[in-house]
Amino acid sequence: MSTTHWFDQRSRSLVFAFLSLLWLMALCAASPAQSQTDTQSPVEIKITAKQFEFDPHTITVQKDKPVRLIITSADVDHGIKLEAFGINKKIPAKQTINVEFTPDQVGRFEFKCSVVCGTGHDDMLGELVVVEGSQQKVEVTFDDQTPGVAIVEVNGERIRIDTSTKTWTRIEQAKTGPVSPAQSQTGEIRKVATEKTEPYDYRVVNVPTPKRVLKGSLNLYFTHRFAEPVRPLNESARDLIGLDSSAVPSFGLFYGVTDKLYVSAYRSAICQRGLCRTIEIGAGYHWVDEGAESPIAVSTYASIEGDDNFTQNYTYNLQLMVARSVAKYVNLFFSPALHLNANGQRRFDPRATDFFPPSTVNFSQPKHTGSFGLGVNARIRPSVSLLFEYTPRVGFKLGRVLPIFDSAGRVTGFRSESEAEIGFGIQKDVGRHSFSLTFSNTQTTTTSRYNSSNLVLPPSRFTIGFNLYRRFLR
Ligand code: CUA
Repeated sequence: MSTTHWFDQRSRSLVFAFLSLLWLMALCAASPAQSQTDTQSPVEIKITAKQFEFDPHTITVQKDKPVRLIITSADVDHGIKLEAFGINKKIPAKQTINVEFTPDQVGRFEFKCSVVCGTGHDDMLGELVVVEGSQQKVEVTFDDQTPGVAIVEVNGERIRIDTSTKTWTRIEQAKTGPVSPAQSQTGEIRKVATEKTEPYDYRVVNVPTPKRVLKGSLNLYFTHRFAEPVRPLNESARDLIGLDSSAVPSFGLFYGVTDKLYVSAYRSAICQRGLCRTIEIGAGYHWVDEGAESPIAVSTYASIEGDDNFTQNYTYNLQLMVARSVAKYVNLFFSPALHLNANGQRRFDPRATDFFPPSTVNFSQPKHTGSFGLGVNARIRPSVSLLFEYTPRVGFKLGRVLPIFDSAGRVTGFRSESEAEIGFGIQKDVGRHSFSLTFSNTQTTTTSRYNSSNLVLPPSRFTIGFNLYRRFLR
């Protein structure tokens, strides 16, 4: 008798059949449990929230499958609001939160930042795409002609990935006809192209910046400069630090014809000698943003100012606006300009007949002006910036002209009191609004005049004011 008896052909078959049965039973017992954990453990998606985007900003999930969004703020406080699924949570600065939900309807749902986080807050958007679970189908094909290129198809959406250049292209198939390059959307891997919003406004206090005017957007600009100079607080308390005094209101509109070209109209109600109810009409062109191609942002602007509601005393302006960020939260500006005919008709020169007995001295100032606007915007909070600007000039200098009398009361000469414009303030952004509380040594705000110190008040006196912006239509 040999022990091989156990392992004869029949016994071996029986053992195999028994083991197979056990295996099958184990599988059957395990499978319900397996599928249960499958529907319960959520799909995890990591998202970075930062000024001013969600990365990634398009998320595709399956209907009826739980989702866990792991959202990290890279900088300041943000929020996530996904209205369709009743979600609204804050993401504190530098922290990570989890948002869990089960999408119960298919479609495309917008989500957005729900905590005001700066100038680009309104543009901080994302999209949740919920697809039918069974629809989820991924297909990968390789391009035979170009090595390193793969085409990934997910739910009918085709993405071409070029691993050599690290770029992807979304191939959108038209209803009829072949793929058109105009319909494709391109981007860098891991960094989705989003609209950049400059962290500064259209003006520092008065000095213009090269901030882009978005195509189709209508922007309102409202400025106030109070006449009463800023005085020590105990004196000023009576008239609310100058807020009670008569103000110079100005109102402007500018419209983005394209993403680069804009037109503007501005009216300043100030009415003083040689300067009254000025309307300024202009056009600007945004050449380049600060970024990979250019170390600076550049715009140019040309305008005509006409007094008495654009009927007389025309001044012609040509201006260059340059901006550069020097630190994460600091931007510098340089805006040189030419103001032709700024003292046209010699209208700011004193006349002999202004005095009695009439003055025998002539006082003439140059006709044209050049100015060099310098500015800084320093962000101290996500939506709060400190502003400072300084604008020296050459040529004609608008300012107070005072007669010099001799002991007999005759005018023996004139002296011009004028200083370079200085402005400072604090800016607060709230979505599409921006508000700046300003202090400047001028009440004038048009392009050829903002660079001059006060006309009537002593040039070193600062007046309080504000700038208000509002973007409409876009
Ligand atoms: Cu991020 Cu608002």
